[in-house]
Amino acid sequence: MTEPAEDLLGTTLAFARRALADPHWDHLRTALPEGPPARRDVRPRPLPVMAWLDGIEDQAAPDTRDLCAVLCRAAPHLAWGQTYGAADFSAGFLERYGWTELLGQRGPFVSDTIACGFLLLGPGIEYPRHRHEAEEAYLVLAGTADWLKADRGFVPRPPGALVHTPSRCWHAIRTSDQALLAFYLWSAGDLTQKSEVRPAG
Ligand SMILES: [Fe+2]
Repeated sequence: MTEPAEDLLGTTLAFARRALADPHWDHLRTALPEGPPARRDVRPRPLPVMAWLDGIEDQAAPDTRDLCAVLCRAAPHLAWGQTYGAADFSAGFLERYGWTELLGQRGPFVSDTIACGFLLLGPGIEYPRHRHEAEEAYLVLAGTADWLKADRGFVPRPPGALVHTPSRCWHAIRTSDQALLAFYLWSAGDLTQKSEVRPAG
């Protein structure tokens, strides 16, 4: 019997390869590991935001539901983290925000060239404009949130959408009445960088 993290890795990589099948995304798809990556011991760490995993599959698309289910099963075995703390954002935001790295320099599977995992946001919050050196692709798994890129307005992106952000491009996410679960893939640049957040106003 495979363990939850291994199930999650296999399901995630198969999903990401399908979602990035267009030749335009060759550079991201081919960055995914071909063989089994090395393991790293990571102690499970829960966060309050995990409460929003309950029922998240109901907000998935047919193509994303299986990965949502596998993630929910693996979630208690994963280390959930936050890039920001009380000095950056309100307690209300931090209760509804978290991510877990699956593959990278910190997650249970080792990569020095990409970082990927899952972002979970509760309803009714805004992850403000931020940017980072890494190129980023998000694949929306569950929940329709509003996504902003550069100085264009917020656009709703449903489950199944691919949201691409070039290196150092400002971006933001705003949830409404649904929680959001998205797969993220960071490529190139500093893969553990704390994003630069644009001050309000
Ligand atoms: Fe980002």
